[in-house]
This record gives sequence, structure tokens and C-alpha cells, in this order.
Amino acid sequence: MKKQSLLRISLFLFLFIFSACTPQALPSIPVQTEDTYAPLAPDGVPSAVGEDAFYKQADASIPERVEDLLSRMTLDEKIGQMTLVEKGSIEVADLPSLSIGGLLSGGGGAPVEGNNPEKWAAMVDGFQQSALESRLNIPLIYGVDAVHGHNNVVGAVIFPHNIGLGAANDPALMAEIGRATALEMAATGIYWNYAPGVMVPQDIRWGRIYEGYSENTELVSTLGAAYLQGLQSTDLFESNITIGTPKHFVGDGGTAWGTSTNSGYKLDQGVTEIDEVTLRAVHLPPYQSAIDAGARSIMISYSSWGGMKMHAQQYLITDVLKDEMGFTGFIVSDWEAIDQITGDYYQAVVTAINAGVDMNMVPYNYNRFIDTLTKAVDEGDVPISRIDDAVRRILTVKMEMGLFEQPFSQPELLAEVDSDAHRALAREAVAKSVVLLKNDNNLLPLDKDTPQIFIGGVAADDIGIQSGGWTIEWQGKKGAITPGTTILEGIENAVGAGTVIEYSKAGKFTGDTEAADAICLAIVGEPPYAEGKGDSKSLKLPSNELRILRNMEEGCPNLVVILISGRPLIVTDSIDSWDALVSAWLPGTEGAGVADVLFGDQPFSGTLSYTWPASVEQLPVGSSSEAPLFPFGFGMTGE
Ligand code: GLC
Repeated sequence: MKKQSLLRISLFLFLFIFSACTPQALPSIPVQTEDTYAPLAPDGVPSAVGEDAFYKQADASIPERVEDLLSRMTLDEKIGQMTLVEKGSIEVADLPSLSIGGLLSGGGGAPVEGNNPEKWAAMVDGFQQSALESRLNIPLIYGVDAVHGHNNVVGAVIFPHNIGLGAANDPALMAEIGRATALEMAATGIYWNYAPGVMVPQDIRWGRIYEGYSENTELVSTLGAAYLQGLQSTDLFESNITIGTPKHFVGDGGTAWGTSTNSGYKLDQGVTEIDEVTLRAVHLPPYQSAIDAGARSIMISYSSWGGMKMHAQQYLITDVLKDEMGFTGFIVSDWEAIDQITGDYYQAVVTAINAGVDMNMVPYNYNRFIDTLTKAVDEGDVPISRIDDAVRRILTVKMEMGLFEQPFSQPELLAEVDSDAHRALAREAVAKSVVLLKNDNNLLPLDKDTPQIFIGGVAADDIGIQSGGWTIEWQGKKGAITPGTTILEGIENAVGAGTVIEYSKAGKFTGDTEAADAICLAIVGEPPYAEGKGDSKSLKLPSNELRILRNMEEGCPNLVVILISGRPLIVTDSIDSWDALVSAWLPGTEGAGVADVLFGDQPFSGTLSYTWPASVEQLPVGSSSEAPLFPFGFGMTGE
């Protein structure tokens, strides 16, 4: 009898005897027979298994399938499953030989062949095909940051960033956006989304605040759970479900200015200097809501709490998140985040895996990670029980997702990408996200037959600016980066035939802006940014944008300012020169949604999901007794 089968039979006997002595019955692991085990190949390496292997039986119970598969795996294959690699760093032959568990496209990680949905699908399917050639044919899980639509893909519909969706405050809308995103992702073979961000930002100087719904814990909990349920709605596909990844656990939105451990940053990846009571009250509830809504993967934060990096926090990851809150999915690290724990890579890996990280987003040098973790297990610094727990969690979620049955893209869904229905949904979301903050003389909504409209600002006619970071590229990019409707185009399509529109990027016009029947729209804001690159000390508009405003403030007696930004900006000293102020946040590709509220086709209904400070001295939120410029929840209707 082969060594391996003898081992398994004895394991089975042990489990059988053990289970006979313990009150709760262990899952009835099926009786293994010779033909369901991989016979040892001549070189002593277990060979591939047949389609009749128990773990491949889709109608069997997932726990039993997982135990069967786990019992067949070598240590190398188990550690391979705990390894997440960025797609540009993988040697394709390593996918099967190392049984790599996951691949990802980091922000902007498009196919080298070009960026369209078909090429994305071909790329991901190609990786998947290689992975399935592994001895045990375990499918890959492929992840992206589809944080506001399938936003790395040219042609995908880009929804408003979460700050706008927080202002819309519509859980049903969130679920629809999650569902639409899952459909566009499945068209490209991607079923793992590093979203929703369920951070609760307390300082709007943070470059990631726009990825958060709100400063308000309850609002974040409600909208994050609704998005997740839409994204993971099982009626989407015949066998698959897409999973989300609530992130970043925990307290990423509560860091203190100047504490970043990343040299170029100020708030991002900083230290959350609050006590456990506050951490539990402000930052933890969205994760409980997400777990209750079916979260199956959660990403750990770069930030620090309790004197250590979150990736080293065994108390919060294992004792609190997994044990106390009942999270049974798997924990994924952030990008190269384990390395930040300590300069000693061996210790960093040991600490993070023992803390409860199940899959390491390496993302580059995966051989070093695999070798290091293998050594740690051999040395006894990481118990095999921790490895088995991590792999059990990963395999369970892969089976729940239907990846063993349907690992590839779904070409019939390509029609969903860029569909009219999704663009209409995004346009509705834009209209609901816009917040009316000032409206002297009830200037808004505008008449569609306004004789003259003067529109100034680069941001008026730039898809890249109105989409913000995490769009086609990690940091986003100015310009016509993907198909969509700019705000200017939306306005041009909305007005009557008799209306004359003059557009000037600089806000300098030839027409008579002082005419009684003239309206000026200054559309200004921030350039795209992501993560710590967006940390801002002053929250002031960039100087080139201020110049456009000064030009228009001088010549426009009827001036509406529309801000395109990832956060409230300090406008206290300028707002008195403006007759009306509208915040459109980062609306995405459907700029017509802004025109819909400007001209009254949709009501102004958005309300601030973040306090709008009068000065940066009022940050973080709640730290000043001075009145803000606009309070949380403020928003006018224009009626
Ligand atoms: C980034 C972000 C995280 C993202 C990951 C993969 O650094 O912190 O939100 O999911 O890397 O792109």
C-alpha cells in the first residue's frame, strides 16, 4: 500500500476514533478508496487526480470537499494557495508548479496587449488555464480594485466615488451599483473585488477620503453592506458569485496627521491614536455589518494601532475579527504590507501569518515569500495548524464562489460592459450625489432656455478629472482616458436650441458675461490622486484653478461654482464672491448627471456625508468647537 494512502487511512482512523470520543461529530469525511487518491508518480511526487476526486464533486458539501482537498495537499501546495502575486510579476509556469492561489491587477494593471474588456478576459482566462494545470487543478482567484465600477477597464462604466454615494445615501442604489460592477467584472473573468472601502475617515486631508462613504459610522455600515449584497448577489450567474473585500481593517480612517510610516505620506498608512473603546465604536461596526452581509474576504490596513502595524495585530485580526465577530472567510494583506512590519522579513512573515493573515499580497517576489514561510513551518515558528486554517478558509471561499465549476470569464456578459442600463444607473447616481451648498436668489436650477451660459474651467471638459483616482490608472489621469460624457457635454445636451454656450478653460470670455441674462459656471477642482499621494495639508484649490475662479469672479455677476473634488475644500475666503455653490465630488463617466440637477431634470437631493470645515484647524472632525462652513447632513434642494 502506498505510503501516502497509508498515512491518509491512519489519519482517517485517528479522526474516526477521535470523533467517536468527542461530543460533536466531525464532518463525515468520505471513505477514501485507492482510485480517489493520487497514486505516487515514479519520482515520488503525487500525480494529478481524476475528475472523480471527491473535492471536485460540486454537489457534495463544501466542508467535506475542502477537507478532502486539504488532505491531499503538500505543504508547498498549501503555501502556494496563500500567495497572491501581481500579474506582471508572475512566471506563468509557476502558476501550476507552485499552485499559486491568487493573482491581481494593481491599480491600472491592464493587459500588456491593450485595454479593452475582451483583452482583459483573454488575459485572466489565460492565467486561469495555467493555474488549472496544477496537480490538484485548484482555480486561481483573480482580484482588482473595482472601487467605482470596473474602473481599470477602458469602456467600463465609472460610477461616482464613494464620497458622492455617501451624499446620495441610497442603499438600494448602492446594491444596484454593486450588481452592475459584478456583471462587468464577470465579463472579464474577475470575481474578486477589493471593495467596498468601509473606512470611516475622520480627517478629510487624507488622500483616500473619497474612497470612504462618510465620517459617520452608521452611514458607512449601511452603504457598505448594501454594496456588498449587490456585488455578491447570487442570482447574478448560474454558478458563480463575485466576492467583495471590505477594507482596510481597521481604523485606516482614524490616523493622526504626520504619523505616516510611509515617508512620502502624512495621514495615509499612519497611526490610529485612539483607545479601543473609540476604535470599536467608530471603526469596527462597518465590518460587523459586512460580515452579516456575507463578507468572504477582508483586507488589512497599512495603518497602525496599539503600538504595532495592523498586519501584526493578532488580537484584532484573530481574537476580535475571526473569533469574536465570527468572520469565517479569509484575510488578505494589503500590497507588500507585511514587509512593513519589520526589516527582518522572516519575522515579518511569521508575525503576520500567526496574527491571522491568510493570503499575502506579496506582490512581487513570491518565491522569497514561499521559501520564507516554508522555512518558518519547518522551524516550527508557524504551526501547520495555522497554515491549514488559512488554506481551509481560502479553499472554502473559492468553492463558495463556484470557481471550481466556472473558473473562466463569461463572454455573454461582455454586452453588460458599457451598457446603456449601467450608464443610466451611473447617471442617476451622479444626480443623487450632487450637493447644493449655496443658492443666492434661487439662481439654481437654471432655465434650459437661458440665453447665454459661460462655462470656465479645465474640469468642465475632462473625463479623467471628473473620475478621479483609481480610474484606468492607479492615480487616475487627466484627459479623455475612457469613453463617457463630460459635464460640459452634459450641459450642451441639456440646453435649448436658443442657448449660446461659450467655453473657456481659463475662464476668459469674448461674450458679455455681465449681461443680465448671462449665467457663468466655474467648474473647478482637484487633479486626480490616490492613497497617500493625495494627502493635503491645506485643502486649498490648486493655484491654476484659483486663477480660473479669479477670472470669473471679476467678470460674472451671476456666478455658479461647481467643485469637482475628492473631498470638501477650504473655500471660506472665496464663497462670498459666488452666488451659488455645488459640490459634484468625483462623478465618474456620466457627467450628464450633473446637468440633470443643474437644469432641474432631477432635484438637488444630496446631503453632506462629511462635515465641511471652515479651516484645516477644525480637523480631525470633532476636534474644534468652531462652527464648520457646512455641517454634516447639510444640503439644499433648490426649490
Ligand atoms: C493598494 C491599496 C489597496 C488595494 C491594493 C491592491 O495599496 O491600499 O486598497 O486594494 O493596494 O491594489
